[in-house]
Formats: sequence, structure tokens, C-alpha cells
Amino acid sequence: MELVSNLPVYQTVPERYIFPPDKRPANDIVNHSINLPVIDLRGGRIDSDGQDEIIRDIMKAGKEFGFFQVINHGISTKTIDNMLQVCENFFKMPAQEKERYYSDDMSRAFFLNSSTQYDKSQTRYWRDYLRIACYPIEEFVDQWPEKPENFREILSEYTLRVREIASKILKLIAEGLGLHKDYFAGDLSKGNIKMEVNFYPPCPDPSLTMGLLPHCDRQLITVLAQGTAATGLQAKYKQKWINVKPIPGAFVVNFGHQLEIVTNGILKSVEHRALTNSTVARTSIATMTMPRMDCLIAPAKELVNENNPPMYKEFIFRDFIKAYDAALANREGVLEFFKLY
Ligand code: OGA
Ligand code: NI
Repeated sequence: MELVSNLPVYQTVPERYIFPPDKRPANDIVNHSINLPVIDLRGGRIDSDGQDEIIRDIMKAGKEFGFFQVINHGISTKTIDNMLQVCENFFKMPAQEKERYYSDDMSRAFFLNSSTQYDKSQTRYWRDYLRIACYPIEEFVDQWPEKPENFREILSEYTLRVREIASKILKLIAEGLGLHKDYFAGDLSKGNIKMEVNFYPPCPDPSLTMGLLPHCDRQLITVLAQGTAATGLQAKYKQKWINVKPIPGAFVVNFGHQLEIVTNGILKSVEHRALTNSTVARTSIATMTMPRMDCLIAPAKELVNENNPPMYKEFIFRDFIKAYDAALANREGVLEFFKLY
């Protein structure tokens, strides 16, 4: 398997990594004047209308952007940086150390791959990634690598802490929607927690390559750490791309397809992509909260009525994943398949 992190330092981009012009990161459609809202998760602030300010801010950001950053979330910058560092160290290990983890078998608790598990026949992405089943920890920990040193310990600690943040945000969203605060706490968020650790080495010409093509996340919610090495993530906002600026110690939060469906479109799953850069390696860690595979997904009945009819069909989460995996290059069309209007 070819990893970008194993390539020699090239002066030009190898042909197989060069995207056709229509898929390249054209700069003219980036809106540099808009930044994502940054939400302070420290509790206890009530506004003049007696509303919890955090819930108000999350709902406002969620409805307008589908994306926001959170600070003061309870995880120290050091814990996040340790996790980013140990992941980066993994990719920087010698090729023969990494070889044993090459796979694209989604049933494995840990594997290393390059580009993407989809779009196999097309241009290669300037990206290596780890796909990790993280929670329940005891179910998977024995299948995680022992190198780099302390990898398992750091990953365990990070998983538990990020899981708490995701649960907290889901509670705030449930309240903001007028649902019971534990609305998402059952089967909707009790699937395995998975991580996708992305590694984008410096690229000789970022204008020709992509780290990740535009996509929406298919789970319930994503909590992403991106370090501060470089800007790379962009989110769609009013038909343009905006940069998701790195903030030390912050997490980027975005909604997956399942949250859009359950909220009947009140909160949207928003397209995003990752660009490469020519100077430093960038590592990002997406932690994905998933429904259980046998969970019935449907618009919350509390959110639908005569004036707001259900926008999506009911389905079992497993069937969504099957449709998504089968759609290969066209997986952005998957949500359409579950839409009623
Ligand atoms: C993802 C993703 C963005 C990034 O892994 O789904 O969107 O910044 N990552 O690497
Ligand atoms: Ni994503």
C-alpha cells in the first residue's frame, strides 16, 4: 500500500495525486471574512430572557452554520495535544513498523490506510488515515497498537473525555430543541465510538491536491481536534467555503446526517473538505458518535406536526450505512435517498 507519509520529499506532485481542475481547491470561492462561532461551554450563564446562554449560542450556531468551535469544554489543551502528537508520531514511524496495520477492512478495530476507503479508482487524496473503534474501550483496546509508546493509554483517556463532551453537547442540543435532555442519550448515541485520524503531510503544490473532498459526516455528531499547525478544514457557508481557523485547545463540532434527520432538518449536516499545505504536516482527529446499528432513525415526533411534516423516511441505521457504503463516489446523494421531499 502506498502511504503519503512514506513518500520521499518531492518537488512536484506525482500525477496520481493531481485532481482534475473542477475538483481542485479553487481559491476564488473562499470567503475569508467569516469565522465559525466559538462557544464557551462553561455553564451557569443566563441571559436577560432567563435562557441558558450556552444553549442559545449552540442553537444559533447550529442553525446558521451546522458547525462551531467549543472552548472551556473541560479537556486540557495538554490532553488534546498529547493525543495529536502520539497520532502524528504513529504516521512518522518507519514504513515497516506501520505495514502490519494496512487494511481497509471496516470490521477491524484498528487500521491504517491512505486516500479514502471509497473512490478507489480515482485520484488519490493527499491523506493517510487511521480508522479506530474506540468505545467501549475494553472491547477494542487489545487490538490497538502498542507503539508509539503510551498510544493505548493516551487514546483511552482521550476517548473517555471526548465522549463526555459529545454527550454534553447532545444534551444541550436536545434542550435547545425542546426535547427531553436525554433524547439522544439512548440508542441514537450508543453505537461504538469511532475515530478517524487524518494525517496530511506537506504537499509540494496544494492547489493541485485535496486532503478530503467535500463530504458530510454520516454519524450523529463529530467532535474534531485539529491542532494549530496549519489551516486546512473548510466548511460550506452560503455556497462558499470558509476556513475553520485553528484555536489552541478548541474542538470543532459538526452535525452528521443522523442529527439532520432526527431534527427533521432543523439542524443540518454541512459539507466540509480538507486542503493540504506546503509547509507543515497537519493532523486532525474526528471522533464520531454513532447510533447503534439496530437503532430506528426517524424525525423526532415532537418536532413534526401538520405544519412541519416529516422530511425523511424511517430506517434502521444499518441500512443507511449499507446505502452509504454502496454509493461509493456518489455518497453525497445518499441523504437524498432518505428524503421524502
Ligand atoms: C473527517 C473530516 C476534516 C479534517 O475526518 O470526516 O472531515 O480537518 N476531517 O481533517
Ligand atoms: Ni468529515
